[in-house]
Parts: sequence; structure tokens; C-alpha cells
Amino acid sequence: MFQIFPTQASALASQVDLLYSFLVIVSVVMTLLIFAAVAFFAVRYRRRSESERPLLIDGSVRLEVAWSVIPFLVMLVMFGWGTYLFFKIYAPPGDALDIYVVGKQWMWKLQYPEGQREINELHVPVGQMVRLTMASEDVIHSFFVPAFRIKRDVVPGHYNTVSFQATKPGRYHLFCAEYCGTQHSGMIGWVTVMPVREYKDWLTLGGSDSMAQQGEKLFHQYGCSSCHLLDSPGRCPNLRNLFGHKVQLDDGRTIIADEAYIRESIINPNAKITYAFKRDVMPTFEGQISEEAILQLIVYIKSLAPTPAPAVSPEGRTQ
Ligand code: CUA
Repeated sequence: MFQIFPTQASALASQVDLLYSFLVIVSVVMTLLIFAAVAFFAVRYRRRSESERPLLIDGSVRLEVAWSVIPFLVMLVMFGWGTYLFFKIYAPPGDALDIYVVGKQWMWKLQYPEGQREINELHVPVGQMVRLTMASEDVIHSFFVPAFRIKRDVVPGHYNTVSFQATKPGRYHLFCAEYCGTQHSGMIGWVTVMPVREYKDWLTLGGSDSMAQQGEKLFHQYGCSSCHLLDSPGRCPNLRNLFGHKVQLDDGRTIIADEAYIRESIINPNAKITYAFKRDVMPTFEGQISEEAILQLIVYIKSLAPTPAPAVSPEGRTQ
């Protein structure tokens, strides 16, 4: 059957479609009005003889106000409605499942805090808020799931997040929506939305280390643990209880230790130096560590909080 809209499979899909329909209806109605007016005036005011001279028209203030104010009000509705939805879509979700995405020419790599990894396949439970933290290994990609009405660029050197709540079990297309090289059109995959119980079973299939455990291994493998001592003062800041907390920098600024800050500190350690610590102590890991590995390190550092974040403890997840 011919379908104008893709299946609506997320909590906000119907609202996005409603706004979209409004925009289409306004555009079609205005286009028809303009074309009808053009045709009508062309006939009504056609030149009837060689000698005819048109009457001078002085204009009408009322008419001018009308055709300025009415479109302005219609546009304000578009603006207000669009802004409302935008903030709804991009508001940080309260309690969300974290899943990590790396775009790479030409595939999507997905990692779950529980340790599963997949390529071009994303599994999510129905009815739960999911937050994707997305990084690119090379060029700009764009993560697009039409059934969820979500699309967000995946940009190198940066984390973008997108969140959604799937409402219908099923399989939905996943696309790359930003031209990223010769195989761009092949950078596609599937999102599988499963009932919560099935999802929980699926999560245990991997049997591998959790992301935090993988990150811990990297933490030792890359020698981080020799300076960032966890339970005694070291040459480098102690990372326990760091994530999500304020960090005082040596230039007087205070920042919050989030994913972007930790990533930057691995790639470019001198960018932000913690107060009372020295510059040029930590070597850069740029080019030596993949985006997936950095995400594992971040999840490990998150797990070093005294109360582990919900995303890293497989049992402690709230529904
Ligand atoms: Cu990745 Cu297009």
C-alpha cells in the first residue's frame, strides 16, 4: 500500500507528522491562492485594446497591512510550534538507557553498556527512553531513523546525542543521511524494537565483558592507571567520583566533567588542566585509540562514581 508517512514508531512521531502536515497544508493553500490570483488578474485586467491606458492605483493601507500581518501570524505559529517540538525532542531525557554509536566509513558500530556490540543493528526495548551518544571515526555522518522521526549529525571530534522512545515492536530502517563517500548509500541498517523482557534476554546473549570492564582493561593497557591512581594521590587527577561533577581548572574556570571533557582530556590533555596539576605530564592519545575505545574508557570512568550511574550496572537499571 502506498504510504505518505513512514510508520509512526516513537512517542513523538505523531506530533512531528502533525507539524509537517500543517506546513504542507499552509504551503499548498498559499500556492493555490497565488496561482488562482495570478490567473484571475491576468484575465480581469488584461489589455483590451491598443489605445487602453490603465488607471493609476494609489494603493491601499488596509490591504497592505492585511497581507503583511496575516502571513506574519501564520509564520509565528510555525515558529512557536516548531520550537516547542524542538525542545521536546532535544531536552535531555531524565532516565534513559545509554547506547553508544560510532559512525565509520561505511558502517554503524553500536555498543551497549552491558558489553554487546553490533554493526548496523540497533536493539532497543519498547516504551523506554533511549539516549544514543554518537561519535564519528572519520567524516560527518547522520543517524536517521524515519520511523522514529529522528535525525542527528554524527560529527568527528564531538559527541552528539539523540533520544527517543520506541512505541511499537518491529524492525525499522536505519540510514546515514549525510553523504560520506562512495559507499554512503550502503551505510544502512536496522533498528529492532523488542518487548522489555525479550530485550533483557537479548542483552545477556553476548556473554562478554561490560563496557566498563572493557574500559578498565584499556585503562591499564594504555598506562592510565600508573598516573591516575584511584585510591591514593598520584601525579594526575584522581578519577574516582569525577564524572558529572565540577572540576576546578588552573585558569580559574570551573567545568562539569562530562563525556566531551573526558574525551578531550584523552585526545588533547593540555586543553584543560585541573587546578594544582601540571601541564605536559600526560601524553596525547590522538590517533592511538579508537572512538569505540574512548567510549569504553568514559563508561569505565562513569562507573568510578561512588554510586554507579544507572547505565553501567546491568542489574540496577530502572524501567
Ligand atoms: Cu555515513 Cu553517509
